[in-house]
Formats: sequence, structure tokens, C-alpha cells
Amino acid sequence: MTDPLVDALRAAVEAAPQNAPVRVQLAEALLAQGEAEEALLHARAVLAASPADAPALGVAARAASANGQDDVAAGYAQLRDALAGGTGGGRAGGGRQRPGTGPRGPARISARGDEEDRDPADPESPDEDAPNDSGGLFVERASDVTLADVGGMTDVKRELERSFLGPLRHPDLTAHYGASLGGGLMLYGPPGCGKTLLARAVAGELGAQFVSIGLQDVLDLWLGESERKLHEAFGYARRHAPCVLFFDEVDALGQKRGQLKGGAGRNVVNQLLSEMDGMDSQDDGVFVLAATNHPWDVDSALRRPGRFDRSVLVLPPDAEARAAIFSLHLRDRPVDGVDVQRLAKRTDGFSGADVALVCRTATANVMEDAMASGTMRPVRQSDLDAAIAETRPSTAPWFKLAYNFAAFANDGGEYDGLLAYIRKHRLA
Ligand SMILES: Nc1ncnc2c1ncn2[C@@H]1O[C@H](COP(=O)(O)OP(=O)(O)OP(=O)(O)O)[C@@H](O)[C@H]1O
Ligand SMILES: [Mg+2]
Repeated sequence: MTDPLVDALRAAVEAAPQNAPVRVQLAEALLAQGEAEEALLHARAVLAASPADAPALGVAARAASANGQDDVAAGYAQLRDALAGGTGGGRAGGGRQRPGTGPRGPARISARGDEEDRDPADPESPDEDAPNDSGGLFVERASDVTLADVGGMTDVKRELERSFLGPLRHPDLTAHYGASLGGGLMLYGPPGCGKTLLARAVAGELGAQFVSIGLQDVLDLWLGESERKLHEAFGYARRHAPCVLFFDEVDALGQKRGQLKGGAGRNVVNQLLSEMDGMDSQDDGVFVLAATNHPWDVDSALRRPGRFDRSVLVLPPDAEARAAIFSLHLRDRPVDGVDVQRLAKRTDGFSGADVALVCRTATANVMEDAMASGTMRPVRQSDLDAAIAETRPSTAPWFKLAYNFAAFANDGGEYDGLLAYIRKHRLA
């Protein structure tokens, strides 16, 4: 690569790995050169740290599309649009703000989505501390989201209690029955359905800080230094215990391993294994969670006892969860006579991101009307119904793909729950 702009941006990124705008510029420059794959990696690195970064979402969508990954591209674009709709709606409503005044519930979740706006000078801001002693790799967020903030999804919550939180809350009982407290938990399922939200909620339940790490960062951007970075991540988590280390897209390790020269991916897997094996969550106060859309790609060594030995399937939000997500996304918009329960009934199979898109579409249509007619009116049920009719649930392609993997990788019935859901909803 001889393009001087790309070279300069690369150097800038190397000097300041956590500088998101520079990394987004590098992604743009790479994309302009036809280096879509590398552009996507940089965009994803930014998103791993700040999932709501709109410019990063934009370049990620275009890079994925140039890469032929249309589903992925659509996901990024949808998320960017949903987020744009969120802030746009807030402004359209006259900049109304209700910081912290809402009931415990989705309101607090959405407040977290705005945390890029957090004042960096605020001593309460945990982000301030992160770059200083974490090698600049991680964005840290203290989690104040708990399971009570996650609408519906009773089965997932029960499973999280049973397999992860319960044993940690009752170490004596756990020891009595000879169970172990070590090991991590892997959340898997279709995109946009609440994995990241649930990981945050688990951190909140444990009163722990939340550190999110995109493994793409570790693998692709600090090749050769990856093991040290991983070691630092665990050290950082121990110093800030109790702390949840969240590995987003953990499948990246499995996928990349074969492609990388010199077994660099293997080394990172080994480092992660040894960090996890040397861990005693009770003493260390370090809890390891991971999320993936492709559990079948996760390196099998990572799935053995004491590592990511428990997994929880996160399915599309149920009706109660969808009602909560509707309330969340309509909260700051002018609405009239909207029944979120009825909307929830009509959106079976929609992801959280799809529900956000419906709210955005309805609002955009009403705004268009208002501009044409010169009169303002609120968003009504019929507007949302119309938006639902023109939105297709985005999770269907994931289930089709998942069926192929799950049906053939179902050793020990690992994917029984997923296969049952697919059959029940005739998704494959
Ligand atoms: N049960 C729920 N209650 C409230 N909000 C929810 C719920 N489930 C999902 N959401 C909302 O839906 C959106 C997508 O959720 P999230 O980012 O956690 O999905 P994800 O599974 O991590 O997706 P990806 O696989 O793309 O990373 C978020 O805005 C989240 O707040
Ligand atoms: Mg996520």
C-alpha cells in the first residue's frame, strides 16, 4: 500500500489507537482504495468501543456491502438509521430531556446509548480512567443497567440466573454441590436482539464495571502484540474488580485462526485460554462474558470446561420485550393514542433494531406529511402500523444460516433450543 494518505492515517492510528475519528478516516481512505475488508476491520474496532458511533456505522455499512456482505451491511445501516432517528426525534420534540427521571426501565437503557455525550471532565465518568492504564485499548463503562432494565425475555433471564448469577451469589451452596465458579458465559443469537444489553445487565447485577473488547482489535490491529494486550486486559480488569470483561464477536478468533499466517490467532486463543484457566472469579472478581452471532465458529478449545463452558441463546425479543423497546424508542417523540402492546403483537420475529427502525420510519413519514401540509401532528397508531407493514424482520436470514450449522453441529444437543425455535416458527 503506497497511498500517502493511508500511510499517514495508519501511523496516526498506531500512535493513538483509541482515537475513533482518525480510525474512521482511515477506514474511509481504505474503502476509497478498494480495501473494503481492512476498512471494515477498522470500523468494527471503533464500534467495539462505541457501538453507537454513527460515522463508523456508516463506513462499516459501505465496507461490508463492498465486501459482498449484504446482510451485515444492512444491519449496520439499519442501526445507524435507528440511532439517527433517535436523536432526530428528540430534537423534533423540542430537545425535551428527562435525564434520570423515568421509572426504572428502558429509559435508563437509552440514556446509556447517549453516553458519548458524557462530559469527559465529569469525575464520575469512568471513561476517563480507561485510556490511562489500560493501554488505550478499551472503553470502560460502569454498568448501571440491570436485568430489570431488560424488558421481557423471562427465559433468558432465568437461564442467566441459573447458570451464572445464581452460583456467584451463593458460593457456599455452589461449593457444597461441587460446582465451579470459574469459566465464562457466551451469549449467542441473531443480531440486534439484546446480547450486548444483557451483558451490560449482568455486569450491573454483579455491581461490576463493564469493559467491552472487540477481538477484532486484539487480533488484527495489534498483531504480534495481541497476547500482551489480552494479558493487560485481564490485569486491568483485576485492578478494577469487580469487573466484567466482555468479548464481543468472540467467533473472530475461530474464523481468523485459519487465515492468519504464523499462527498468530492460535497464540491469542492460547493466551485467552491461559488467562481464563488462571482465573478464579470469586477471588479475582473478574467475570468473562462473550457474545457471538456464530457460535459454531468459536474455537472449540474455548468451549471446554472452565472456559466459555456455558452458553445462553438470546432469541428475538418476545412481546413484552418488544413493548418495552417500543416505549423506549417512542419516549421522546410526539405520540398520540399509541398502544405499545398492540404494536408488540404485530411484530413477532422483529429484533430490537427492527423495532427501532419501525419507530424511525413512522416518525419520518409523519414529518414528511407535516412538511408537505404545513401542519404538525403527532405520530399515531396507524402511522406505526403502516411502518410495521413495510418493515421485514431482519432476523430471518440469520435463522436460515443458523439452521445449517446448528443441525450439523448439534453434538450433545447444544443447539436443541435453537432448532426447536426454528422449527416452531418455520424459519428454515
Ligand atoms: N429486552 C429488551 N429490552 C429493551 N431493549 C432491548 C431489548 N432487547 C433489545 N433491546 C434493544 O435493541 C437494540 C439491540 O440490542 P443489542 O445491541 O443488545 O443487540 P445484540 O444482540 O448485541 O446485537 P449484535 O449481534 O448486532 O451485536 C438495543 O437498542 C437494545 O437496547
Ligand atoms: Mg452486540
